[in-house]
Amino acid sequence: MARFATGVTVVTFDAGGEHGGLTANAFMSVSLDPMLVLVSIRKASRFCTHVRKGDHYGVSLLTGEQREICNKYAGRPFQGSILLEEMDGIQVVAGSLAQLVAQVVDIHEVGDHLLYIGQVRTLAIASGSDPLIYFSGEFGDFRSRTGDERQSLRLFWPDMAVE
Ligand SMILES: Cc1cc2nc3c(=O)[nH]c(=O)nc-3n(C[C@H](O)[C@H](O)[C@H](O)COP(=O)(O)O)c2cc1C
Repeated sequence: MARFATGVTVVTFDAGGEHGGLTANAFMSVSLDPMLVLVSIRKASRFCTHVRKGDHYGVSLLTGEQREICNKYAGRPFQGSILLEEMDGIQVVAGSLAQLVAQVVDIHEVGDHLLYIGQVRTLAIASGSDPLIYFSGEFGDFRSRTGDERQSLRLFWPDMAVE
């Protein structure tokens, strides 16, 4: 699976009044109407202790400049500070490519992971930054081979206000 290139997200949650989160690349869009997303989380993770059906979780899609943040939320040595902002009662990472808050509508146990299907309640999209890419255990940059990012965003979400 390491040969599948992905973006990198920080999935955040309310850990009994405290902020919790983990780095995750097993994130995907599942449905557009209703707008559903999925994150696959290792059962032993703190996320699974705290997040139940009906709860909310946040997903922040990291930019290339946010690589250090990824280390912190993966439990690796980390230097610096992280700016968080609140969205629908969940802390999300400020300055991300996109942030969303989803409400858990289904949880599926599959092997040693739980699949959390979330209905997107709030979505914010920024433009002008490149994503952090993860491939073969390494981090890299995105290089467009087509064209205008704003135009592509408008194609998918004609009514969306893109910053
Ligand atoms: C690039 C990257 C992607 C990751 N993706 C996932 C993932 O999709 N699901 C998961 O459960 N853990 C994933 N992890 C591992 C968790 O971030 C890490 O185990 C974290 O410490 C779990 O949080 P916990 O301390 O609450 O268990 C990933 C780590 C990295 C560095």
